[in-house]
Amino acid sequence: MDTFTFYNPTKLIFGKDQVEMLPEQLPKETKKVLVVYGGGSIKKNGVYDNVMEQLNKSNVLVHELAGVEPNPRLTTVRKGIDICKKEGVDFLLAVGGGSVIDCTKTIAAGAKYSGDAWDLVTRQATPDGALPFGTVLTLAATGSEMNGGAVITNWETNEKYGWGFAPYTYPTFSILDPQNTMSVPRDQTVYGIVDMMSHLLEQYFHNNTQSPSQDEMVEGVLRTVIDTAPKLLDNLESYEHRETILYAGTMALNGMLQMGYRGDWATHNIEHAVSAVHDIPHAGGLSILFPNWMQHNLEVDVTRFARLATNVFHVNSEGKSERQVAEEGINELRTFWSSLGAPETLAYYDINDDKFDVIINRAMKRGAFGNFKSLEENDVKEILEMSK
Ligand code: NZQ
Ligand code: ZN
Repeated sequence: MDTFTFYNPTKLIFGKDQVEMLPEQLPKETKKVLVVYGGGSIKKNGVYDNVMEQLNKSNVLVHELAGVEPNPRLTTVRKGIDICKKEGVDFLLAVGGGSVIDCTKTIAAGAKYSGDAWDLVTRQATPDGALPFGTVLTLAATGSEMNGGAVITNWETNEKYGWGFAPYTYPTFSILDPQNTMSVPRDQTVYGIVDMMSHLLEQYFHNNTQSPSQDEMVEGVLRTVIDTAPKLLDNLESYEHRETILYAGTMALNGMLQMGYRGDWATHNIEHAVSAVHDIPHAGGLSILFPNWMQHNLEVDVTRFARLATNVFHVNSEGKSERQVAEEGINELRTFWSSLGAPETLAYYDINDDKFDVIINRAMKRGAFGNFKSLEENDVKEILEMSK
Protein backbone atom coordinates (compact mmCIF):
# COMPACT_ATOMS: atom_id res chain seq x y z
CA MET A 1 0.00 0.00 0.00
CA ASP A 2 1.01 3.63 -0.34
CA THR A 3 1.64 5.43 2.92
CA PHE A 4 -1.43 7.31 4.07
CA THR A 5 -2.96 9.42 6.82
CA PHE A 6 -6.70 9.13 7.18
CA TYR A 7 -8.63 11.91 8.88
CA ASN A 8 -12.33 12.58 8.44
CA PRO A 9 -13.71 15.07 10.96
CA THR A 10 -17.38 14.85 9.90
CA LYS A 11 -19.75 13.58 12.56
CA LEU A 12 -22.29 11.31 10.86
CA ILE A 13 -25.79 11.23 12.37
CA PHE A 14 -27.88 8.59 10.67
CA GLY A 15 -31.48 7.40 10.96
CA LYS A 16 -35.17 8.18 11.35
CA ASP A 17 -36.03 11.62 12.76
CA GLN A 18 -32.42 12.43 13.55
CA VAL A 19 -33.01 16.05 12.57
CA GLU A 20 -33.94 16.36 16.25
CA MET A 21 -30.22 16.18 16.94
CA LEU A 22 -29.67 19.45 15.06
CA PRO A 23 -29.81 22.01 17.92
CA GLU A 24 -27.10 20.31 19.96
CA GLN A 25 -24.77 20.14 16.95
CA LEU A 26 -24.56 23.89 16.50
CA PRO A 27 -21.45 25.41 18.06
CA LYS A 28 -22.45 27.08 21.37
CA GLU A 29 -21.51 30.57 20.23
CA THR A 30 -23.69 30.41 17.05
CA LYS A 31 -25.84 33.50 16.58
CA LYS A 32 -26.60 33.70 12.86
CA VAL A 33 -27.19 30.70 10.60
CA LEU A 34 -27.39 30.82 6.81
CA VAL A 35 -29.64 27.99 5.59
CA VAL A 36 -28.72 27.07 2.00
CA TYR A 37 -31.10 25.07 -0.20
CA GLY A 38 -32.08 24.35 -3.80
CA GLY A 39 -35.09 24.87 -6.01
CA GLY A 40 -37.79 24.12 -3.47
CA SER A 41 -38.05 20.33 -3.05
CA ILE A 42 -37.48 20.78 0.70
CA LYS A 43 -40.56 22.98 0.95
CA LYS A 44 -42.75 20.31 -0.71
CA ASN A 45 -41.53 17.32 1.30
CA GLY A 46 -41.58 18.90 4.76
CA VAL A 47 -37.81 18.90 5.33
CA TYR A 48 -37.70 22.72 5.40
CA ASP A 49 -40.35 22.86 8.15
CA ASN A 50 -38.60 20.18 10.20
CA VAL A 51 -35.26 21.98 9.99
CA MET A 52 -36.78 25.37 10.85
CA GLU A 53 -38.57 23.86 13.83
CA GLN A 54 -35.22 22.70 15.21
CA LEU A 55 -33.49 25.99 14.44
CA ASN A 56 -36.26 27.87 16.24
CA LYS A 57 -35.44 25.85 19.35
CA SER A 58 -31.82 26.95 19.04
CA ASN A 59 -32.30 30.63 19.59
CA VAL A 60 -30.40 31.66 16.47
CA LEU A 61 -31.22 34.20 13.77
CA VAL A 62 -31.83 32.52 10.43
CA HIS A 63 -30.93 33.86 6.97
CA GLU A 64 -31.71 31.92 3.80
CA LEU A 65 -30.09 31.37 0.42
CA ALA A 66 -32.54 29.56 -1.86
CA GLY A 67 -32.23 28.50 -5.49
CA VAL A 68 -28.92 26.66 -5.60
CA GLU A 69 -28.87 25.05 -9.05
CA PRO A 70 -28.11 21.41 -9.80
CA ASN A 71 -24.46 21.82 -10.96
CA PRO A 72 -24.14 24.81 -8.60
CA ARG A 73 -22.90 28.04 -10.09
CA LEU A 74 -20.24 30.48 -9.02
CA THR A 75 -22.78 33.34 -9.17
CA THR A 76 -24.81 31.64 -6.40
CA VAL A 77 -21.68 31.02 -4.34
CA ARG A 78 -20.89 34.74 -4.58
CA LYS A 79 -24.44 35.61 -3.43
CA GLY A 80 -23.98 33.41 -0.39
CA ILE A 81 -20.60 34.95 0.44
CA ASP A 82 -22.13 38.44 0.24
CA ILE A 83 -24.87 37.45 2.71
CA CYS A 84 -22.32 35.95 5.12
CA LYS A 85 -20.11 39.03 5.06
CA LYS A 86 -22.97 41.55 5.22
CA GLU A 87 -24.95 39.80 7.95
CA GLY A 88 -22.09 38.41 10.00
CA VAL A 89 -23.24 34.81 9.59
CA ASP A 90 -21.32 32.43 11.84
CA PHE A 91 -22.68 29.03 10.78
CA LEU A 92 -23.96 27.55 7.51
CA LEU A 93 -26.49 24.76 7.14
CA ALA A 94 -26.84 23.00 3.78
CA VAL A 95 -30.21 21.32 3.31
CA GLY A 96 -30.29 19.36 0.06
CA GLY A 97 -28.25 17.19 -2.27
CA GLY A 98 -24.64 17.39 -3.44
CA SER A 99 -25.16 20.68 -5.28
CA VAL A 100 -26.42 22.48 -2.19
CA ILE A 101 -23.64 21.02 -0.06
CA ASP A 102 -20.89 21.88 -2.57
CA CYS A 103 -22.20 25.43 -2.88
CA THR A 104 -22.23 25.73 0.92
CA LYS A 105 -18.65 24.45 1.23
CA THR A 106 -17.44 27.06 -1.21
CA ILE A 107 -19.43 29.84 0.47
CA ALA A 108 -17.98 28.78 3.84
CA ALA A 109 -14.40 29.12 2.60
CA GLY A 110 -15.14 32.14 0.39
CA ALA A 111 -16.59 34.05 3.35
CA LYS A 112 -13.17 33.97 5.01
CA TYR A 113 -11.20 34.74 1.86
CA SER A 114 -10.50 38.29 0.72
CA GLY A 115 -10.35 37.54 -3.02
CA ASP A 116 -12.88 35.98 -5.39
CA ALA A 117 -14.11 32.45 -4.63
CA TRP A 118 -13.17 31.29 -8.15
CA ASP A 119 -9.50 31.56 -7.09
CA LEU A 120 -10.22 28.81 -4.56
CA VAL A 121 -12.08 26.60 -7.02
CA THR A 122 -9.30 26.92 -9.60
CA ARG A 123 -6.74 26.31 -6.83
CA GLN A 124 -4.92 29.55 -7.55
CA ALA A 125 -5.31 30.34 -3.87
CA THR A 126 -5.87 28.32 -0.72
CA PRO A 127 -8.39 29.31 1.93
CA ASP A 128 -7.23 30.90 5.17
CA GLY A 129 -10.09 29.32 7.07
CA ALA A 130 -13.82 28.76 6.67
CA LEU A 131 -17.08 29.28 8.49
CA PRO A 132 -18.19 26.03 10.10
CA PHE A 133 -21.08 24.28 8.40
CA GLY A 134 -23.31 21.23 8.73
CA THR A 135 -25.62 19.41 6.35
CA VAL A 136 -29.04 17.80 6.27
CA LEU A 137 -28.82 15.51 3.25
CA THR A 138 -31.86 14.88 1.05
CA LEU A 139 -30.41 12.87 -1.84
CA ALA A 140 -28.15 9.80 -1.85
CA ALA A 141 -25.49 10.30 -4.51
CA THR A 142 -22.31 12.31 -4.18
CA GLY A 143 -20.88 11.57 -0.74
CA SER A 144 -20.32 15.32 -0.34
CA GLU A 145 -21.99 15.05 3.08
CA MET A 146 -18.88 13.32 4.43
CA ASN A 147 -15.99 14.45 2.28
CA GLY A 148 -14.03 17.62 1.68
CA GLY A 149 -14.76 17.98 -2.05
CA ALA A 150 -16.91 20.57 -3.83
CA VAL A 151 -17.68 20.94 -7.52
CA ILE A 152 -18.54 24.40 -8.84
CA THR A 153 -19.46 25.63 -12.32
CA ASN A 154 -18.50 28.96 -13.83
CA TRP A 155 -21.19 29.21 -16.48
CA GLU A 156 -19.66 32.34 -18.03
CA THR A 157 -16.48 30.48 -18.97
CA ASN A 158 -17.98 26.96 -19.21
CA GLU A 159 -15.66 25.58 -16.58
CA LYS A 160 -16.58 23.11 -13.84
CA TYR A 161 -13.95 22.03 -11.35
CA GLY A 162 -13.70 20.05 -8.19
CA TRP A 163 -11.78 21.52 -5.30
CA GLY A 164 -11.50 21.18 -1.54
CA PHE A 165 -9.16 22.01 1.30
CA ALA A 166 -9.03 19.89 4.43
CA PRO A 167 -10.22 20.35 7.08
CA TYR A 168 -12.13 23.52 6.15
CA THR A 169 -14.39 21.98 3.51
CA TYR A 170 -15.51 18.99 5.58
CA PRO A 171 -18.93 19.39 7.21
CA THR A 172 -18.73 19.43 11.00
CA PHE A 173 -21.79 17.16 11.02
CA SER A 174 -24.20 15.60 8.55
CA ILE A 175 -27.69 14.40 9.36
CA LEU A 176 -28.89 11.54 7.16
CA ASP A 177 -32.49 10.45 7.56
CA PRO A 178 -33.62 8.01 4.85
CA GLN A 179 -37.13 9.50 5.16
CA ASN A 180 -35.77 12.75 3.73
CA THR A 181 -34.82 10.92 0.53
CA MET A 182 -38.25 9.29 -0.02
CA SER A 183 -39.45 12.09 -2.30
CA VAL A 184 -36.44 11.94 -4.63
CA PRO A 185 -38.02 11.27 -8.04
CA ARG A 186 -37.18 8.16 -10.04
CA ASP A 187 -34.71 9.82 -12.43
CA GLN A 188 -32.70 11.47 -9.63
CA THR A 189 -32.75 8.21 -7.68
CA VAL A 190 -31.21 6.48 -10.70
CA TYR A 191 -28.62 9.24 -11.13
CA GLY A 192 -27.67 8.88 -7.47
CA ILE A 193 -27.19 5.13 -7.86
CA VAL A 194 -25.06 5.58 -10.99
CA ASP A 195 -22.97 8.25 -9.24
CA MET A 196 -22.18 6.16 -6.17
CA MET A 197 -21.39 3.13 -8.35
CA SER A 198 -19.07 5.30 -10.42
CA HIS A 199 -17.28 6.45 -7.27
CA LEU A 200 -16.77 2.82 -6.30
CA LEU A 201 -15.55 1.92 -9.79
CA GLU A 202 -13.20 4.91 -10.02
CA GLN A 203 -11.59 3.58 -6.84
CA TYR A 204 -11.58 -0.04 -8.02
CA PHE A 205 -9.46 0.79 -11.07
CA HIS A 206 -6.06 1.38 -9.54
CA ASN A 207 -2.60 -0.08 -10.00
CA ASN A 208 -1.74 -0.99 -6.44
CA THR A 209 -1.27 -4.74 -6.04
CA GLN A 210 -1.58 -4.88 -2.26
CA SER A 211 -5.11 -3.84 -1.31
CA PRO A 212 -7.07 -7.06 -0.65
CA SER A 213 -9.46 -5.70 2.00
CA GLN A 214 -10.09 -2.48 0.11
CA ASP A 215 -10.93 -4.33 -3.12
CA GLU A 216 -13.27 -6.73 -1.31
CA MET A 217 -15.04 -3.85 0.41
CA VAL A 218 -15.54 -1.95 -2.84
CA GLU A 219 -16.90 -5.11 -4.52
CA GLY A 220 -19.21 -5.70 -1.56
CA VAL A 221 -20.74 -2.23 -1.68
CA LEU A 222 -21.11 -2.49 -5.47
CA ARG A 223 -22.94 -5.84 -5.14
CA THR A 224 -25.22 -4.36 -2.48
CA VAL A 225 -26.12 -1.36 -4.62
CA ILE A 226 -26.73 -3.58 -7.68
CA ASP A 227 -28.97 -5.85 -5.61
CA THR A 228 -30.93 -3.02 -3.98
CA ALA A 229 -31.35 -0.58 -6.89
CA PRO A 230 -34.09 -2.46 -8.82
CA LYS A 231 -35.99 -3.16 -5.59
CA LEU A 232 -35.89 0.51 -4.67
CA LEU A 233 -37.05 1.55 -8.13
CA ASP A 234 -40.01 -0.83 -7.76
CA ASN A 235 -40.90 0.86 -4.49
CA LEU A 236 -39.49 4.36 -4.15
CA GLU A 237 -41.02 4.69 -0.70
CA SER A 238 -39.31 1.68 0.82
CA TYR A 239 -37.56 2.96 3.94
CA GLU A 240 -35.32 -0.09 4.03
CA HIS A 241 -34.03 0.31 0.47
CA ARG A 242 -33.64 4.08 0.80
CA GLU A 243 -31.60 3.42 3.94
CA THR A 244 -29.31 0.90 2.22
CA ILE A 245 -28.68 3.23 -0.72
CA LEU A 246 -28.15 6.28 1.52
CA TYR A 247 -25.50 4.53 3.59
CA ALA A 248 -23.82 3.11 0.46
CA GLY A 249 -23.62 6.55 -1.15
CA THR A 250 -21.84 8.02 1.85
CA MET A 251 -19.42 5.11 2.21
CA ALA A 252 -18.61 5.22 -1.50
CA LEU A 253 -16.92 8.60 -1.24
CA ASN A 254 -15.96 9.41 2.34
CA GLY A 255 -12.44 8.07 2.01
CA MET A 256 -13.05 4.90 4.04
CA LEU A 257 -12.62 2.61 1.04
CA GLN A 258 -9.74 4.44 -0.59
CA MET A 259 -6.85 4.15 1.85
CA GLY A 260 -3.39 3.12 0.69
CA TYR A 261 -4.02 3.49 -3.03
CA ARG A 262 -5.13 6.08 -5.57
CA GLY A 263 -8.29 5.63 -7.57
CA ASP A 264 -8.49 6.72 -11.19
CA TRP A 265 -11.07 9.59 -11.37
CA ALA A 266 -10.56 10.31 -15.08
CA THR A 267 -14.21 9.72 -16.00
CA HIS A 268 -15.27 12.27 -13.41
CA ASN A 269 -12.91 14.79 -14.94
CA ILE A 270 -14.32 14.23 -18.42
CA GLU A 271 -17.89 14.35 -17.12
CA HIS A 272 -17.29 17.66 -15.36
CA ALA A 273 -16.04 19.06 -18.68
CA VAL A 274 -19.16 17.75 -20.47
CA SER A 275 -21.57 19.22 -17.92
CA ALA A 276 -19.64 22.51 -17.84
CA VAL A 277 -20.53 22.92 -21.50
CA HIS A 278 -23.95 21.22 -21.67
CA ASP A 279 -25.34 21.42 -18.09
CA ILE A 280 -26.51 17.80 -17.95
CA PRO A 281 -26.97 15.82 -14.70
CA HIS A 282 -23.58 14.65 -13.43
CA ALA A 283 -24.46 10.95 -13.29
CA GLY A 284 -26.25 11.06 -16.64
CA GLY A 285 -22.86 11.94 -18.07
CA LEU A 286 -21.14 9.22 -16.05
CA SER A 287 -23.48 6.47 -17.22
CA ILE A 288 -22.64 7.38 -20.82
CA LEU A 289 -18.88 7.84 -20.38
CA PHE A 290 -17.87 5.18 -17.85
CA PRO A 291 -18.42 2.00 -19.92
CA ASN A 292 -16.54 3.68 -22.79
CA TRP A 293 -13.66 4.65 -20.50
CA MET A 294 -13.57 0.97 -19.47
CA GLN A 295 -13.55 -0.29 -23.05
CA HIS A 296 -10.83 2.24 -23.93
CA ASN A 297 -8.61 1.08 -21.04
CA LEU A 298 -9.30 -2.65 -21.11
CA GLU A 299 -5.74 -3.52 -22.11
CA VAL A 300 -4.22 -1.67 -19.14
CA ASP A 301 -5.14 -4.58 -16.85
CA VAL A 302 -7.47 -7.20 -18.35
CA THR A 303 -7.26 -9.24 -15.15
CA ARG A 304 -8.74 -6.39 -13.14
CA PHE A 305 -11.69 -6.05 -15.50
CA ALA A 306 -12.22 -9.83 -15.45
CA ARG A 307 -12.20 -9.80 -11.64
CA LEU A 308 -14.91 -7.12 -11.62
CA ALA A 309 -16.96 -9.22 -14.06
CA THR A 310 -16.82 -12.37 -11.93
CA ASN A 311 -16.90 -10.90 -8.42
CA VAL A 312 -19.48 -8.18 -8.99
CA PHE A 313 -21.52 -9.19 -12.03
CA HIS A 314 -21.25 -12.96 -11.48
CA VAL A 315 -20.08 -13.57 -15.05
CA ASN A 316 -19.43 -17.28 -15.57
CA SER A 317 -15.81 -17.62 -16.73
CA GLU A 318 -15.89 -21.30 -17.68
CA GLY A 319 -14.38 -21.94 -21.11
CA LYS A 320 -13.85 -18.23 -21.79
CA SER A 321 -10.69 -16.20 -22.21
CA GLU A 322 -9.92 -13.57 -19.60
CA ARG A 323 -10.58 -10.89 -22.17
CA GLN A 324 -14.02 -12.32 -23.01
CA VAL A 325 -14.95 -12.32 -19.32
CA ALA A 326 -13.67 -8.76 -18.93
CA GLU A 327 -15.73 -7.56 -21.91
CA GLU A 328 -18.83 -9.32 -20.61
CA GLY A 329 -18.39 -7.40 -17.35
CA ILE A 330 -18.37 -4.07 -19.18
CA ASN A 331 -21.52 -5.10 -21.05
CA GLU A 332 -23.16 -6.16 -17.79
CA LEU A 333 -22.54 -2.70 -16.34
CA ARG A 334 -23.91 -1.00 -19.45
CA THR A 335 -26.98 -3.25 -19.45
CA PHE A 336 -27.57 -2.75 -15.73
CA TRP A 337 -27.51 1.04 -15.92
CA SER A 338 -29.64 0.97 -19.02
CA SER A 339 -32.17 -1.31 -17.25
CA LEU A 340 -32.51 1.37 -14.56
CA GLY A 341 -33.21 3.99 -17.24
CA ALA A 342 -29.82 5.74 -17.27
CA PRO A 343 -28.67 7.09 -20.65
CA GLU A 344 -26.13 5.31 -22.88
CA THR A 345 -25.24 7.95 -25.45
CA LEU A 346 -24.67 11.70 -25.55
CA ALA A 347 -27.41 11.85 -28.18
CA TYR A 348 -29.87 11.20 -25.33
CA TYR A 349 -29.20 14.81 -24.25
CA ASP A 350 -29.05 16.05 -27.87
CA ILE A 351 -25.30 16.45 -27.59
CA ASN A 352 -23.33 16.01 -30.80
CA ASP A 353 -19.64 16.58 -31.51
CA ASP A 354 -20.00 20.35 -32.18
CA LYS A 355 -18.38 21.31 -28.91
CA PHE A 356 -16.05 18.37 -28.39
CA ASP A 357 -13.09 20.75 -28.80
CA VAL A 358 -14.26 22.90 -25.89
CA ILE A 359 -14.96 19.83 -23.74
CA ILE A 360 -11.49 18.41 -24.46
CA ASN A 361 -9.89 21.77 -23.71
CA ARG A 362 -11.68 21.96 -20.32
CA ALA A 363 -10.86 18.35 -19.45
CA MET A 364 -7.16 18.94 -20.22
CA LYS A 365 -6.99 22.25 -18.32
CA ARG A 366 -4.97 20.74 -15.50
CA GLY A 367 -2.89 18.52 -17.82
CA ALA A 368 -2.99 14.75 -18.40
CA PHE A 369 -5.17 13.00 -15.83
CA GLY A 370 -6.19 9.58 -14.50
CA ASN A 371 -4.16 7.33 -12.19
CA PHE A 372 -5.07 3.88 -13.57
CA LYS A 373 -4.22 5.20 -17.02
CA SER A 374 -3.06 8.72 -17.66
CA LEU A 375 -5.22 10.23 -20.42
CA GLU A 376 -4.03 12.64 -23.07
CA GLU A 377 -6.10 14.72 -25.46
CA ASN A 378 -6.47 11.92 -28.02
CA ASP A 379 -7.76 9.50 -25.33
CA VAL A 380 -10.44 11.98 -24.26
CA LYS A 381 -11.43 12.52 -27.89
CA GLU A 382 -11.72 8.78 -28.45
CA ILE A 383 -13.89 8.27 -25.35
CA LEU A 384 -16.16 11.14 -26.43
CA GLU A 385 -16.41 9.70 -29.95
CA MET A 386 -17.35 6.30 -28.49
CA SER A 387 -20.03 8.06 -26.40
CA LYS A 388 -21.87 9.77 -29.30
O1 NZQ B 1 -33.03 21.85 -5.98
P1 NZQ B 1 -34.08 21.02 -5.34
O2 NZQ B 1 -35.43 21.57 -5.45
O3 NZQ B 1 -33.73 20.63 -3.94
O4 NZQ B 1 -34.17 19.64 -6.20
C1 NZQ B 1 -33.08 18.76 -6.35
C2 NZQ B 1 -32.44 18.84 -7.73
O5 NZQ B 1 -33.36 19.24 -8.69
C3 NZQ B 1 -33.60 17.35 -6.32
N1 NZQ B 1 -33.74 16.81 -4.96
C4 NZQ B 1 -32.80 16.72 -4.00
N2 NZQ B 1 -33.31 16.12 -2.90
C5 NZQ B 1 -34.62 15.87 -3.17
C6 NZQ B 1 -34.89 16.31 -4.48
N3 NZQ B 1 -36.11 16.21 -5.03
C7 NZQ B 1 -37.08 15.66 -4.28
N4 NZQ B 1 -36.89 15.19 -3.03
C8 NZQ B 1 -35.68 15.29 -2.44
N5 NZQ B 1 -35.50 14.79 -1.21
O6 NZQ B 1 -32.64 16.59 -7.03
C9 NZQ B 1 -32.07 17.40 -8.04
C10 NZQ B 1 -30.58 17.15 -8.10
O7 NZQ B 1 -29.95 17.61 -6.92
P2 NZQ B 1 -28.36 17.76 -6.86
O8 NZQ B 1 -28.00 18.24 -5.51
O9 NZQ B 1 -27.89 18.55 -8.03
O10 NZQ B 1 -27.89 16.24 -7.08
P3 NZQ B 1 -26.60 15.50 -6.60
O11 NZQ B 1 -26.65 15.20 -5.16
O12 NZQ B 1 -26.46 14.38 -7.54
O13 NZQ B 1 -25.41 16.56 -6.82
C11 NZQ B 1 -24.84 16.76 -8.08
C12 NZQ B 1 -23.67 17.73 -7.99
O14 NZQ B 1 -22.63 17.21 -7.15
C13 NZQ B 1 -21.37 17.19 -7.85
C14 NZQ B 1 -21.83 17.01 -9.29
O15 NZQ B 1 -20.81 17.33 -10.21
C15 NZQ B 1 -23.01 17.94 -9.34
O16 NZQ B 1 -22.58 19.27 -9.49
N6 NZQ B 1 -20.51 16.16 -7.27
C16 NZQ B 1 -19.99 16.42 -6.06
C17 NZQ B 1 -19.11 15.55 -5.44
C18 NZQ B 1 -18.55 15.84 -4.11
N7 NZQ B 1 -18.71 17.02 -3.59
O17 NZQ B 1 -17.91 14.99 -3.50
C19 NZQ B 1 -18.69 14.29 -6.08
C20 NZQ B 1 -19.54 13.90 -7.24
O18 NZQ B 1 -18.80 13.03 -8.05
C21 NZQ B 1 -20.08 15.03 -8.05
O19 NZQ B 1 -19.14 15.47 -9.02
ZN1 ZN C 1 -19.70 11.60 -9.01
